[in-house]
Amino acid sequence: MVRVSLWLVGETTVNLNLKNKVALVTGGSRGIGKAICLALAADGVRVGVNYVSSKDQAGAVAQEMTKKFGVSAVAVKSDVGKDGAMVPLFDAVERALGPVDILVNNAAHCPSGPISSYTRKAWEQTFSVNVTGAFLASQELIRRLRARKARGKIVNIVCQAAFLGSTSGHLPYDASKGALVSMTRALAREVAAEGINVNAVAPGMVMTEMVAGIWEQKKDFYLSRIPMQRIAAPEEIASVVVFLASDAASFMTGTTLDVTGGLMMR
Ligand SMILES: NC(=O)c1ccc[n+]([C@@H]2O[C@H](COP(=O)([O-])OP(=O)(O)OC[C@H]3O[C@@H](n4cnc5c(N)ncnc54)[C@H](OP(=O)(O)O)[C@@H]3O)[C@@H](O)[C@H]2O)c1
Repeated sequence: MVRVSLWLVGETTVNLNLKNKVALVTGGSRGIGKAICLALAADGVRVGVNYVSSKDQAGAVAQEMTKKFGVSAVAVKSDVGKDGAMVPLFDAVERALGPVDILVNNAAHCPSGPISSYTRKAWEQTFSVNVTGAFLASQELIRRLRARKARGKIVNIVCQAAFLGSTSGHLPYDASKGALVSMTRALAREVAAEGINVNAVAPGMVMTEMVAGIWEQKKDFYLSRIPMQRIAAPEEIASVVVFLASDAASFMTGTTLDVTGGLMMR
């Protein structure tokens, strides 16, 4: 059943205006990225599912969107941390689905350990994927939006740890997400007058492969920090991304929305 893109808030009807838009979700093969792909597709968005290694999983996400929601979708391999990745990635999505209107910078690399354990290479790889990848993808989207005089949306997936710091040792990752929060604001300011909204979502703990191991090890500790006393499902992050990608959030830009079950209240 196709979900209708209308929210009834009292007497007011809000049109998400997502039907027939095209989105590119980096790291859409698993976890939160997969949930974002499916939630966008449920509102009629055609979705490019980017992945770096999980070919079968990305293909399955694309097939699921078409089967469940009747939208076209395509899986595209690209390492967003590598030079020269963006033009072929956007070209592939555009050939299959049409020009991209919505970019979700979701792909991330998250090494673990104390400060003494990281090499310069590990630090730079984290920034290459989490910051430079998001920067280059945003730059390519904006170039293409300007060429066709179109409006657009960028949603960056950051993390509560950008503000609070991780308790389990992810220093390069935390710093990279802080940079992405700053980039969200700076870019939002630069392109706001062109009708391009740039916002971020800061999840707390979400049950995906990235955290499943550490959650099991330190579950009681984490639960004691989360007022809602549970971990999120990926779909609970995806629904907020859909909101920011939609015209329901038309007057929002430069914002980071915290979706943490109360772990972070600012
Ligand atoms: N899970 C949490 O509790 C949590 C909390 C706060 C923020 N977040 C953020 O939410 C986002 C998604 O996290 P997740 O937990 O869903 O992660 P995940 O399950 O580990 O999935 C990571 C995704 O990123 C892709 N990816 C990794 N490196 C890439 C690269 N170089 N190029 C392209 N794609 C790449 C992976 O593709 P392959 O499958 O092909 O490897 C995969 O689709 C991340 O930005 C993360 O920082 C997560």
